[in-house]
Amino acid sequence: MTHPDHDLVVFGATSFVGTIMTQYLANHFASQPEPVRWAIAGRSRAKLEAVRRSLGAAGESVPIILADATNEDELRALCAQARVVVSTVGPYALYGEPLLKACAETGTDYGDLTGETQWIKRMIDKHEPTAQRTGARLVHCCGFDSVPSDMGVYFLQQQALERWGAPATHVTMRVKALKGGASGGTIASMINIVEEAAADPALRKALTNPYYLCPPEHGFTARQHWVKSAEFDPAFDAWAAPFVMAAVNERVVHRSNALSGKAYGHQFTYNEGMLTGTGIRGRAAALALVAGLGAFMASAAIKPTRSLLQRYVLPKPGEGPSPEAQAAGRYDIRFIGRNDNGEMLRVTVTGEGDPGYGSSSKILGQAATSLALDHAKDGAKTGRPGGSWTPATMFDERFIERLTRHAGMRFEVTG
Ligand SMILES: NC(=O)c1ccc[n+]([C@@H]2O[C@H](COP(=O)([O-])OP(=O)(O)OC[C@H]3O[C@@H](n4cnc5c(N)ncnc54)[C@H](OP(=O)(O)O)[C@@H]3O)[C@@H](O)[C@H]2O)c1
Repeated sequence: MTHPDHDLVVFGATSFVGTIMTQYLANHFASQPEPVRWAIAGRSRAKLEAVRRSLGAAGESVPIILADATNEDELRALCAQARVVVSTVGPYALYGEPLLKACAETGTDYGDLTGETQWIKRMIDKHEPTAQRTGARLVHCCGFDSVPSDMGVYFLQQQALERWGAPATHVTMRVKALKGGASGGTIASMINIVEEAAADPALRKALTNPYYLCPPEHGFTARQHWVKSAEFDPAFDAWAAPFVMAAVNERVVHRSNALSGKAYGHQFTYNEGMLTGTGIRGRAAALALVAGLGAFMASAAIKPTRSLLQRYVLPKPGEGPSPEAQAAGRYDIRFIGRNDNGEMLRVTVTGEGDPGYGSSSKILGQAATSLALDHAKDGAKTGRPGGSWTPATMFDERFIERLTRHAGMRFEVTG
């Protein structure tokens, strides 16, 4: 087997989230005993040089690779030099396929921050067979969506097996606290999904299927609850509203169950929501959230209001929360798992930093590092074969340890 020059290449190092991740990785790798050979990549040498300069001494020797997201030859040349490529070039539905295809064809491991389920589904259908042949491990959703959810359920199931010798067949996740903002790239990705769905009734219908990302032969039949309005949740003794990332996370968690041989059970149920408090105020906050989300979706679906939002309200590509806002961000999410005997297990997952940026950049950085070091194809422990994996089926306890030690996250059993 040939040994590529770089353990890890960050494609899109100039993006809002890519620059944060690049700074994080430079500092992180400089503090680690094991050297990691890494490079930054993108389409603009001038911008990449500016990113490298911003890294200071830690970045002086980081190589630059030029590649345009639309140029297959350049992307294949990039893949030939890399063990793992992670991409922050989004919206992925607009720019992501040529790189993913190049990775699948060249057997290069791949990770990203997408939450665009319609694109993930297309990529699984089109490129997973190639990845299975070449050995490329393709891992989407390695950011705030969907690592805290997917690894949170994985962690809860590990505890359930230890405590009960059986999985928790019903899990609910509720966001207790969330402080953070959105970048231009994230908004562009969300708007692109709404645009695609508005133009395609079949896609609109498919997106409501909780098993949308499962392999066709999944055989799951359990009816899934969907928090689509304000509802009182007795298990959490509080009101809940829809959580904006639930439509991504729930589908990823069900794919994890399918790919792990139904390790969570044939009749596993899972849903996510956002806690808004108790009493009349909690109910009012839940209703306000439902109304706000509905208004955003309706405005984004119609061209004239969408243009107004893009022009005057929402952040543009390259823009996002300030460094102060990123540092002040955090999240606290709660899981309750139940087994078939009605026994209960509680898990809390928390993260420091703005979820989408301060935290996602570290999560993706650690996912990439885990792919390159913990799951190296030529290493002693090879792990998964080629294919399209979820975080919870690609990674294991070593990823949770990395997230805990190096990415400001905590996974705790609380009851
Ligand atoms: N899952 C999560 O939790 C999470 C969190 C944060 C972000 N995201 C996702 O991450 C993505 C990036 O978001 P962002 O706000 O950081 O994006 P952004 O600032 O708008 O950056 C977009 C990036 O794409 C690059 N790019 C565009 N066209 C290209 C091409 N033809 N060839 C090469 N590079 C090209 C840009 O390069 P130039 O600098 O050269 O223009 C830039 O690096 C979005 O899809 C967003 O949804 C997800």
